[in-house]
Amino acid sequence: MSKTSPAAIDKSRAARLEPPRAVLFDAYGTLFDVYSVGLLAEQLFPGHGATLSVLWRDKQIEYTRLVTTSNHGAHYQPFWELTRAALVYAIKRIVFAAQPSEAGVQFDGQVERLMNQYRHLSAFPENRQVLGELKAKGIPTGILSNGDAAMLQLAVKSAALDGLLDHVISVDPIRKYKTHPEAYALGEQATGLAAKQILFVSSNSWDALAATWYGYQTLWVNRYQLPFEELGTQPTRTGTSLRDVLNFFPSSTPN
Ligand code: LAC
Repeated sequence: MSKTSPAAIDKSRAARLEPPRAVLFDAYGTLFDVYSVGLLAEQLFPGHGATLSVLWRDKQIEYTRLVTTSNHGAHYQPFWELTRAALVYAIKRIVFAAQPSEAGVQFDGQVERLMNQYRHLSAFPENRQVLGELKAKGIPTGILSNGDAAMLQLAVKSAALDGLLDHVISVDPIRKYKTHPEAYALGEQATGLAAKQILFVSSNSWDALAATWYGYQTLWVNRYQLPFEELGTQPTRTGTSLRDVLNFFPSSTPN
């Protein structure tokens, strides 16, 4: 007897879904290019820019999980603070490891410059057009992010996306980061829709996976040809840029 694979089950489920009635986007890595800080990191720490920015990102996400799952949230800090802490950790780990003589040196100036760069991340080039097309179709859109409200507002402004998003939802008021279910529930509360009526878009595979588990329709934007998570569930669809969002809507002109 043949056994249906989890991937085949996910695919047939995708085929039965109604077109989404709203689209929510992850922010960092999805709308805003977090690795764009690598260039500045390379200038400040020659030879270490790429590893530093990847470790910074990974540590930042690790810290969100640490404070959400430990001691009933007693150690929560806003995303901006966790981002700074993760950067200091990454500098210590990479720079000190390469040059032990630097141990104990303060890098406050470099930390400030990199944090400032993080505040003004560039957006991926197709974003404005895709958001504009969704707006023209009357589909509500928003951000659902770990970022705190001030960070998100500035990022939206810097990337010239203001006026193109109906909701900018931060997890900060509930003090729990994705992938906590209460964080994903904020998207339903803001739109008044059920998760299965909403398309959640993320470039972060862990986020696309957890949102799928929560019940959203999901698009994983795999910009860097990475493997998906190996936990048995697939996103509703996988794409390579934000433009793939438009394929969820049958009346889309081919792109
Ligand atoms: C966010 C991070 C996870 O925007 O990218 O929520």
